Amino acid sequence: MKAIEIRNKYLNYFKRNGHKIIPSAPLIPENDPSVLFNTAGMQPLVPYLLGEKHPEGTRLTDYQKCVRTNDIDEVGDNRHLTYFEMLGNWSLGDYFKEEAIKMSYEFLTKELGIPVEKLSVTCFAGDKDCERDETTAECWKKVGIPEERIYYFGKDDNWWIAGNEGPCGPDTEMFYDTGKPKCSEGCNPSCGCGKYVEIWNNVFMEFYKSKDGKYTKLSQKNVDTGLGLERMTMLLQGKKTPFETELFAPVMEKLEELQKVDSISSRRIVAEHLRSSMMIISDGGRPSNIDRGYVLRRLIRRMIRHINKLQISLEELTNLIELNIEALKEMYPELEINKETIKSVILEEKDKFVKTLEHGEKEFIKEMNKLKEEGKAKLEGKVVFKLYDTYGFPPEVTEDLAKENELEIDKEEFEKLYKEHQELSRQGAEQKFKGGLADQNEQTIAYHTATHLLHQALKTVLGEHVKQSGSNITQERLRFDFTHPQKMTPEEIKQVEDLVNEQIKRDLKVVCEEMTYDEAKASGAIGLFTNKYGEKVKVYTIGNFSKEICGGPHVEHTGDMGIFKIKKEESSSSGIRRIKAVLIK
Ligand code: SER
Repeated sequence: MKAIEIRNKYLNYFKRNGHKIIPSAPLIPENDPSVLFNTAGMQPLVPYLLGEKHPEGTRLTDYQKCVRTNDIDEVGDNRHLTYFEMLGNWSLGDYFKEEAIKMSYEFLTKELGIPVEKLSVTCFAGDKDCERDETTAECWKKVGIPEERIYYFGKDDNWWIAGNEGPCGPDTEMFYDTGKPKCSEGCNPSCGCGKYVEIWNNVFMEFYKSKDGKYTKLSQKNVDTGLGLERMTMLLQGKKTPFETELFAPVMEKLEELQKVDSISSRRIVAEHLRSSMMIISDGGRPSNIDRGYVLRRLIRRMIRHINKLQISLEELTNLIELNIEALKEMYPELEINKETIKSVILEEKDKFVKTLEHGEKEFIKEMNKLKEEGKAKLEGKVVFKLYDTYGFPPEVTEDLAKENELEIDKEEFEKLYKEHQELSRQGAEQKFKGGLADQNEQTIAYHTATHLLHQALKTVLGEHVKQSGSNITQERLRFDFTHPQKMTPEEIKQVEDLVNEQIKRDLKVVCEEMTYDEAKASGAIGLFTNKYGEKVKVYTIGNFSKEICGGPHVEHTGDMGIFKIKKEESSSSGIRRIKAVLIK
């Protein structure tokens, strides 16, 4: 079965079972800029898991494009991917354990035809925060999983939360037995020997974990499930790695044909990072030196390094991109639509990287000559780090060059410096996650409403050409990117501030209505009219001032939001201005 057939079977099965199919949110979260990428199907749905009403109802299903980058360095082995697709179904305070399990079981055994003997499941063993999940085990027995293939584990294995704070709960995971012999007497689904492969996770989300580590019950009991499409495709096709499925095979085969040096891990890295970069670019990502732009830059540069390792000419890049779009466009028509952008972004980044490599090589030669003059043969770790940190020169390339020139490098010192640097970026990334939609509080909600007021005020003051091109909210401020050809004058800034503050003072009522996408458009609501919305949308109206399509949540009245002040107005990129503003209480 091809991946797209599995996806369609999944969505149709849940549709038949009363679920509305909603579109995948873009990889780059909208109005939730504090998260780098969507990493799970539940992420765009956090407000609804917390009790907001979803316009499409209480049973939803979708495929969600996801990027997870914590394992980027593992890509190249037989399973790690940075981009993957997660199929999911959700109950927002609707069905719970019994029905969720019945559907999971039926889908796996009937729709996908997996023999029940191949399935094992795990449940939460219980602890001080939540009882042992015997209900779930009972449900599994009832549908036909024998007791000896039902396992219990603790929070490490059977509890799911995105980050450190937010909606969470015990989960039950389904495993596929690959038929390999047990690695030991005690071999079970939690052991990583490869006999058992996790295929699906049902999270029973009825708790909220707060910053201080306390668990409280949510206002509703939800189900959040996630099934990794690439892995399922690989198992159903009897393949050993996802790279042998149709999702990667065309590029993998082309690389094998072109390569002058054989390396399966380099081929996997190239194929994987190419797909990931294309998906990110197609959803609006661009390479830069910070945050998600940096992730994209790393993916593209790592891919190029491995094309070099395979000794394939970089001239082939355009063909590889085109080949990959051909292979994936049925699943992701947006790749075909954004073909030219994808090509130009990747090729431009390639040119920059080639320059970096040339520049770095020159610096390397200078350092090498210095060493030789001093009669030494070992490059200090801090020099390798400087080449990496200041010139973007990859340490592996330094190592290769050192070898070619019969020099040693102080790897230990370099690794120490590199680890310190990584620790800093990891802390940065964790901060990002913490600030996500899960972190909704009064302040971020007020900023969300202020963003709507600002958007309308800009249109009123500057003209109808103003369109939102990005939004970013933290506890401390809002950031809003919009289309406008020139710098705003101090008078315009003042007018916008005054207009927003006037609406706050008027203590306008914020009303949410549900309507179809077409009705919303006809009613004059502003918002991003892209196909990311399902049939029904929520429209938030603020008095008679603003009307905008949005998922919410918002304040109920504008009165207590504070005083709105624009702190900065600057260029964000060509034709796009950026405003940073605060609410002062
Ligand atoms: N959120 C859970 C996961 O990512 C289930 O979808 O595994």
